Amino acid sequence: MIPKVIRFFRFLKNYQKNKKKTFPDVVNYDITSKCNLKCEHCYWWKTRATKELTDKEWEKVFKEHVEKGAVMGYLTGGEPTLRINVIRTAYNIFNSIGIVSNGTRKIPEEIQCRIFVSIDGPKEIHNKIRGVDVFDKVIENIKNDKRVVLTPTLSATNYKYIDDMVDIARKSGVEGITFSTYTCHGTEDDLYLKGEQLEWTVNKLLEVWKKNKDIVFLTPFIIKSFLKKEYTDYCYFRGKKFIAFDSSMNRKLPCTLGKGVNCNTCGCIVPVVAYALRKGDVRTWFLFDKLYPEKYDIKKQVEV
Ligand SMILES: C[S@@+](CC[C@H](N)C(=O)[O-])C[C@H]1O[C@@H](n2cnc3c(N)ncnc32)[C@H](O)[C@@H]1O
Repeated sequence: MIPKVIRFFRFLKNYQKNKKKTFPDVVNYDITSKCNLKCEHCYWWKTRATKELTDKEWEKVFKEHVEKGAVMGYLTGGEPTLRINVIRTAYNIFNSIGIVSNGTRKIPEEIQCRIFVSIDGPKEIHNKIRGVDVFDKVIENIKNDKRVVLTPTLSATNYKYIDDMVDIARKSGVEGITFSTYTCHGTEDDLYLKGEQLEWTVNKLLEVWKKNKDIVFLTPFIIKSFLKKEYTDYCYFRGKKFIAFDSSMNRKLPCTLGKGVNCNTCGCIVPVVAYALRKGDVRTWFLFDKLYPEKYDIKKQVEV
Protein backbone atom coordinates (compact mmCIF):
# COMPACT_ATOMS: atom_id res chain seq x y z
CA MET A 1 0.00 0.00 0.00
CA ILE A 2 2.69 2.57 0.98
CA PRO A 3 4.79 2.05 -2.19
CA LYS A 4 1.60 2.52 -4.22
CA VAL A 5 0.90 5.85 -2.51
CA ILE A 6 4.52 6.95 -3.03
CA ARG A 7 4.28 6.04 -6.70
CA PHE A 8 1.06 8.04 -6.99
CA PHE A 9 2.63 11.14 -5.43
CA ARG A 10 5.69 10.76 -7.63
CA PHE A 11 3.34 10.76 -10.59
CA LEU A 12 1.75 14.02 -9.41
CA LYS A 13 5.17 15.60 -8.82
CA ASN A 14 6.31 14.75 -12.32
CA TYR A 15 3.06 15.69 -13.99
CA GLN A 16 4.06 19.32 -14.58
CA LYS A 17 7.51 18.29 -15.79
CA ASN A 18 6.05 15.75 -18.20
CA LYS A 19 3.59 18.28 -19.58
CA LYS A 20 6.53 20.21 -21.06
CA LYS A 21 7.84 17.13 -22.88
CA THR A 22 7.20 17.14 -26.60
CA PHE A 23 7.90 13.46 -27.31
CA PRO A 24 5.33 10.89 -26.12
CA ASP A 25 5.98 8.80 -23.00
CA VAL A 26 4.64 5.61 -24.53
CA VAL A 27 5.47 4.43 -28.03
CA ASN A 28 3.60 1.57 -29.63
CA TYR A 29 5.47 -0.40 -32.28
CA ASP A 30 4.21 -3.10 -34.62
CA ILE A 31 7.64 -4.73 -34.55
CA THR A 32 6.78 -7.19 -37.29
CA SER A 33 4.71 -7.29 -40.44
CA LYS A 34 3.97 -10.98 -39.88
CA CYS A 35 1.52 -12.96 -37.83
CA ASN A 36 1.18 -16.72 -37.33
CA LEU A 37 -2.61 -16.45 -36.83
CA LYS A 38 -5.48 -14.81 -38.67
CA CYS A 39 -8.10 -13.88 -36.09
CA GLU A 40 -11.67 -13.15 -37.11
CA HIS A 41 -11.85 -9.74 -35.43
CA CYS A 42 -8.35 -8.44 -36.08
CA TYR A 43 -7.89 -4.89 -37.35
CA TRP A 44 -4.23 -5.49 -38.15
CA TRP A 45 -4.87 -7.34 -41.42
CA LYS A 46 -6.71 -4.25 -42.64
CA THR A 47 -3.97 -1.79 -41.76
CA ARG A 48 -0.66 -3.62 -41.68
CA ALA A 49 2.52 -2.54 -43.45
CA THR A 50 4.15 -5.25 -45.55
CA LYS A 51 7.74 -4.34 -44.69
CA GLU A 52 9.49 -4.45 -41.34
CA LEU A 53 12.68 -2.90 -39.96
CA THR A 54 15.81 -5.00 -39.38
CA ASP A 55 17.08 -5.69 -35.85
CA LYS A 56 19.66 -2.91 -36.23
CA GLU A 57 17.10 -0.43 -37.51
CA TRP A 58 14.79 -1.11 -34.58
CA GLU A 59 17.69 -0.64 -32.17
CA LYS A 60 18.43 2.76 -33.70
CA VAL A 61 14.78 3.81 -33.53
CA PHE A 62 14.40 2.71 -29.89
CA LYS A 63 17.56 4.58 -28.85
CA GLU A 64 16.47 7.73 -30.65
CA HIS A 65 13.05 7.63 -29.05
CA VAL A 66 14.43 7.06 -25.56
CA GLU A 67 16.82 9.98 -26.06
CA LYS A 68 13.84 12.12 -27.02
CA GLY A 69 12.03 11.14 -23.81
CA ALA A 70 10.09 7.93 -24.44
CA VAL A 71 9.92 5.80 -21.30
CA MET A 72 7.85 2.82 -22.33
CA GLY A 73 7.94 0.76 -25.51
CA TYR A 74 4.84 -1.22 -26.30
CA LEU A 75 5.57 -4.12 -28.63
CA THR A 76 2.86 -5.61 -30.75
CA GLY A 77 2.21 -6.46 -34.39
CA GLY A 78 1.49 -8.86 -36.03
CA GLU A 79 2.89 -11.32 -33.54
CA PRO A 80 5.81 -9.71 -31.66
CA THR A 81 7.23 -13.03 -30.44
CA LEU A 82 8.26 -13.73 -34.06
CA ARG A 83 10.97 -11.10 -33.37
CA ILE A 84 12.38 -12.13 -29.98
CA ASN A 85 15.66 -10.32 -30.76
CA VAL A 86 13.79 -7.05 -31.17
CA ILE A 87 11.96 -7.68 -27.88
CA ARG A 88 15.33 -8.19 -26.14
CA THR A 89 16.72 -5.02 -27.69
CA ALA A 90 13.72 -2.96 -26.59
CA TYR A 91 13.95 -4.46 -23.11
CA ASN A 92 17.57 -3.32 -22.84
CA ILE A 93 16.85 0.21 -24.06
CA PHE A 94 13.50 1.33 -22.61
CA ASN A 95 12.73 1.98 -18.99
CA SER A 96 10.00 -0.59 -19.36
CA ILE A 97 8.28 -2.52 -22.09
CA GLY A 98 4.89 -4.10 -22.52
CA ILE A 99 4.18 -6.93 -24.96
CA VAL A 100 0.86 -7.84 -26.55
CA SER A 101 1.06 -11.44 -27.78
CA ASN A 102 -1.16 -14.30 -28.86
CA GLY A 103 0.82 -16.54 -26.47
CA THR A 104 1.78 -19.15 -29.05
CA ARG A 105 5.48 -18.65 -28.27
CA LYS A 106 6.88 -18.40 -24.76
CA ILE A 107 8.75 -15.22 -23.92
CA PRO A 108 12.09 -15.93 -22.19
CA GLU A 109 12.01 -15.62 -18.36
CA GLU A 110 14.73 -12.98 -18.25
CA ILE A 111 12.47 -10.49 -20.00
CA GLN A 112 10.63 -9.13 -16.98
CA CYS A 113 7.71 -7.08 -18.17
CA ARG A 114 3.95 -7.15 -18.42
CA ILE A 115 2.80 -9.53 -21.15
CA PHE A 116 -0.76 -9.14 -22.35
CA VAL A 117 -1.93 -12.43 -23.84
CA SER A 118 -5.01 -12.53 -26.03
CA ILE A 119 -7.29 -15.38 -24.99
CA ASP A 120 -10.73 -14.98 -26.48
CA GLY A 121 -12.73 -17.74 -24.80
CA PRO A 122 -12.76 -21.41 -23.87
CA LYS A 123 -10.96 -23.83 -26.18
CA GLU A 124 -13.49 -24.17 -29.04
CA ILE A 125 -14.37 -20.47 -29.10
CA HIS A 126 -10.75 -19.34 -28.87
CA ASN A 127 -9.70 -21.69 -31.67
CA LYS A 128 -12.65 -20.59 -33.81
CA ILE A 129 -11.78 -16.90 -33.40
CA ARG A 130 -8.04 -17.46 -33.80
CA GLY A 131 -8.52 -19.66 -36.86
CA VAL A 132 -6.17 -22.49 -35.72
CA ASP A 133 -6.04 -25.08 -32.93
CA VAL A 134 -3.73 -23.12 -30.60
CA PHE A 135 -5.55 -22.97 -27.26
CA ASP A 136 -3.70 -25.82 -25.51
CA LYS A 137 -0.31 -24.52 -26.58
CA VAL A 138 -1.13 -21.03 -25.26
CA ILE A 139 -2.30 -22.43 -21.92
CA GLU A 140 0.92 -24.46 -21.65
CA ASN A 141 2.99 -21.34 -22.39
CA ILE A 142 1.31 -19.08 -19.84
CA LYS A 143 0.99 -21.61 -16.99
CA ASN A 144 1.75 -19.86 -13.65
CA ASP A 145 3.45 -16.97 -15.46
CA LYS A 146 2.85 -13.93 -13.27
CA ARG A 147 4.05 -11.58 -16.01
CA VAL A 148 0.89 -12.46 -17.92
CA VAL A 149 -2.44 -10.63 -17.88
CA LEU A 150 -5.07 -12.10 -20.20
CA THR A 151 -6.71 -9.62 -22.57
CA PRO A 152 -9.80 -11.00 -24.30
CA THR A 153 -11.53 -8.85 -26.88
CA LEU A 154 -15.26 -9.24 -26.38
CA SER A 155 -17.37 -9.44 -29.52
CA ALA A 156 -20.68 -10.97 -30.57
CA THR A 157 -18.83 -14.29 -30.96
CA ASN A 158 -17.55 -14.64 -27.39
CA TYR A 159 -19.31 -12.25 -24.99
CA LYS A 160 -21.33 -15.07 -23.45
CA TYR A 161 -18.12 -16.79 -22.29
CA ILE A 162 -16.86 -14.19 -19.81
CA ASP A 163 -17.19 -16.61 -16.86
CA ASP A 164 -15.09 -19.19 -18.73
CA MET A 165 -12.40 -16.61 -19.47
CA VAL A 166 -12.13 -15.64 -15.79
CA ASP A 167 -11.97 -19.32 -14.94
CA ILE A 168 -9.11 -19.79 -17.40
CA ALA A 169 -7.23 -16.89 -15.77
CA ARG A 170 -7.75 -18.43 -12.33
CA LYS A 171 -6.80 -21.99 -13.32
CA SER A 172 -3.79 -21.07 -15.43
CA GLY A 173 -2.24 -19.14 -12.54
CA VAL A 174 -1.56 -15.93 -14.45
CA GLU A 175 -1.59 -12.55 -12.71
CA GLY A 176 -5.01 -11.42 -13.91
CA ILE A 177 -7.42 -10.69 -16.71
CA THR A 178 -8.75 -7.49 -18.23
CA PHE A 179 -11.20 -6.98 -21.07
CA SER A 180 -11.66 -4.80 -24.15
CA THR A 181 -14.58 -4.80 -26.53
CA TYR A 182 -14.39 -5.12 -30.28
CA THR A 183 -13.80 -1.92 -32.28
CA CYS A 184 -15.02 -1.63 -35.88
CA HIS A 185 -13.21 -0.38 -38.93
CA GLY A 186 -15.68 1.59 -40.98
CA THR A 187 -19.34 0.95 -40.31
CA GLU A 188 -20.69 -1.18 -37.47
CA ASP A 189 -20.56 -4.89 -38.29
CA ASP A 190 -21.89 -8.16 -36.85
CA LEU A 191 -19.09 -8.53 -34.29
CA TYR A 192 -19.79 -5.16 -32.70
CA LEU A 193 -21.45 -5.27 -29.25
CA LYS A 194 -24.26 -2.81 -28.78
CA GLY A 195 -27.78 -2.56 -27.30
CA GLU A 196 -28.82 -5.59 -25.27
CA GLN A 197 -25.62 -7.49 -25.96
CA LEU A 198 -23.51 -4.64 -24.61
CA GLU A 199 -25.75 -4.20 -21.57
CA TRP A 200 -25.56 -7.92 -20.84
CA THR A 201 -21.77 -7.75 -21.15
CA VAL A 202 -21.47 -4.80 -18.77
CA ASN A 203 -23.68 -6.50 -16.16
CA LYS A 204 -21.71 -9.73 -16.47
CA LEU A 205 -18.41 -7.88 -16.10
CA LEU A 206 -19.70 -6.18 -12.94
CA GLU A 207 -20.77 -9.57 -11.60
CA VAL A 208 -17.43 -11.28 -12.29
CA TRP A 209 -15.50 -8.29 -10.93
CA LYS A 210 -17.41 -8.49 -7.63
CA LYS A 211 -16.61 -12.19 -7.27
CA ASN A 212 -13.02 -12.05 -8.53
CA LYS A 213 -11.57 -8.67 -7.54
CA ASP A 214 -8.15 -10.22 -7.02
CA ILE A 215 -7.74 -11.21 -10.67
CA VAL A 216 -10.25 -9.18 -12.71
CA PHE A 217 -8.29 -6.03 -13.54
CA LEU A 218 -11.23 -3.72 -14.11
CA THR A 219 -13.15 -1.28 -11.92
CA PRO A 220 -16.89 -0.55 -11.83
CA PHE A 221 -16.13 2.88 -13.32
CA ILE A 222 -14.28 1.30 -16.24
CA ILE A 223 -16.94 -1.35 -16.78
CA LYS A 224 -19.81 1.14 -16.82
CA SER A 225 -17.84 3.42 -19.16
CA PHE A 226 -18.10 0.78 -21.89
CA LEU A 227 -21.78 1.69 -22.16
CA LYS A 228 -21.35 5.40 -22.81
CA LYS A 229 -18.26 5.62 -25.01
CA GLU A 230 -17.53 9.11 -23.67
CA TYR A 231 -13.98 7.95 -23.12
CA THR A 232 -12.96 8.20 -26.76
CA ASP A 233 -12.39 11.95 -26.30
CA TYR A 234 -9.83 11.14 -23.60
CA CYS A 235 -7.73 8.72 -25.63
CA TYR A 236 -4.01 9.12 -24.93
CA PHE A 237 -3.37 8.72 -28.66
CA ARG A 238 -5.25 11.99 -29.26
CA GLY A 239 -2.87 13.89 -26.99
CA LYS A 240 0.89 13.92 -26.70
CA LYS A 241 1.30 10.94 -24.40
CA PHE A 242 1.06 7.98 -26.80
CA ILE A 243 2.12 7.46 -30.40
CA ALA A 244 1.95 4.37 -32.65
CA PHE A 245 4.10 3.19 -35.56
CA ASP A 246 3.67 0.33 -38.02
CA SER A 247 6.43 -2.15 -38.86
CA SER A 248 7.90 0.22 -41.50
CA MET A 249 7.97 3.02 -38.91
CA ASN A 250 5.16 4.97 -40.52
CA ARG A 251 2.98 6.68 -37.96
CA LYS A 252 -0.36 4.95 -37.36
CA LEU A 253 -3.27 7.31 -37.04
CA PRO A 254 -5.38 7.87 -35.08
CA CYS A 255 -3.99 5.05 -32.88
CA THR A 256 -2.63 1.52 -32.92
CA LEU A 257 -5.78 0.34 -34.66
CA GLY A 258 -4.80 2.40 -37.68
CA LYS A 259 -6.50 4.05 -40.58
CA GLY A 260 -10.24 3.60 -40.92
CA VAL A 261 -10.90 2.78 -37.27
CA ASN A 262 -14.34 3.93 -36.15
CA CYS A 263 -13.65 5.75 -32.86
CA ASN A 264 -17.38 5.90 -32.10
CA THR A 265 -17.27 2.11 -31.65
CA CYS A 266 -14.01 2.08 -29.65
CA GLY A 267 -13.81 -0.58 -26.95
CA CYS A 268 -10.09 -0.30 -26.28
CA ILE A 269 -9.02 -0.36 -22.65
CA VAL A 270 -6.45 2.46 -23.19
CA PRO A 271 -8.96 5.36 -23.51
CA VAL A 272 -11.24 3.79 -20.91
CA VAL A 273 -8.45 3.77 -18.33
CA ALA A 274 -7.37 7.28 -19.41
CA TYR A 275 -10.93 8.50 -18.92
CA ALA A 276 -11.28 6.88 -15.50
CA LEU A 277 -7.95 8.33 -14.34
CA ARG A 278 -8.88 11.79 -15.61
CA LYS A 279 -12.21 11.58 -13.78
CA GLY A 280 -10.30 10.80 -10.58
CA ASP A 281 -11.53 7.23 -10.09
CA VAL A 282 -9.32 6.11 -7.20
CA ARG A 283 -9.91 2.41 -7.82
CA THR A 284 -8.50 2.83 -11.33
CA TRP A 285 -5.37 4.47 -9.89
CA PHE A 286 -4.72 1.33 -7.88
CA LEU A 287 -5.62 -0.86 -10.83
CA PHE A 288 -3.02 0.95 -12.91
CA ASP A 289 -0.43 -0.19 -10.42
CA LYS A 290 -1.51 -3.80 -10.94
CA LEU A 291 -1.42 -3.50 -14.72
CA TYR A 292 2.00 -1.84 -14.73
CA PRO A 293 3.71 -2.73 -11.45
CA GLU A 294 6.78 -0.74 -10.53
CA LYS A 295 8.90 -3.90 -10.46
CA TYR A 296 8.85 -3.73 -14.27
CA ASP A 297 10.24 -0.18 -14.37
CA ILE A 298 13.78 -1.19 -15.17
CA LYS A 299 15.31 2.20 -14.42
CA LYS A 300 12.69 3.11 -11.82
CA GLN A 301 11.72 6.35 -13.50
CA VAL A 302 8.47 5.69 -15.29
CA GLU A 303 5.90 8.35 -14.57
CA VAL A 304 3.13 7.62 -17.04
C1 LIG B 1 -3.47 -6.89 -33.29
S1 LIG B 1 -3.16 -7.96 -31.96
C2 LIG B 1 -1.39 -8.08 -32.10
C3 LIG B 1 -0.74 -8.86 -31.00
C4 LIG B 1 -0.90 -10.36 -31.03
N1 LIG B 1 -0.72 -10.94 -32.30
C5 LIG B 1 -2.20 -10.79 -30.39
O1 LIG B 1 -2.98 -11.51 -31.02
O2 LIG B 1 -2.43 -10.41 -29.24
C6 LIG B 1 -3.32 -6.93 -30.52
C7 LIG B 1 -4.63 -7.05 -29.77
O3 LIG B 1 -5.64 -6.37 -30.49
C8 LIG B 1 -6.83 -7.12 -30.37
N2 LIG B 1 -7.69 -6.74 -31.50
C9 LIG B 1 -7.57 -7.08 -32.78
N3 LIG B 1 -8.53 -6.54 -33.53
C10 LIG B 1 -9.32 -5.85 -32.69
C11 LIG B 1 -10.49 -5.06 -32.86
N4 LIG B 1 -11.05 -4.88 -34.05
N5 LIG B 1 -11.04 -4.49 -31.77
C12 LIG B 1 -10.47 -4.65 -30.55
N6 LIG B 1 -9.36 -5.37 -30.32
C13 LIG B 1 -8.79 -5.96 -31.39
C14 LIG B 1 -6.34 -8.55 -30.41
O4 LIG B 1 -7.32 -9.46 -29.94
C15 LIG B 1 -5.13 -8.44 -29.52
O5 LIG B 1 -5.52 -8.57 -28.17
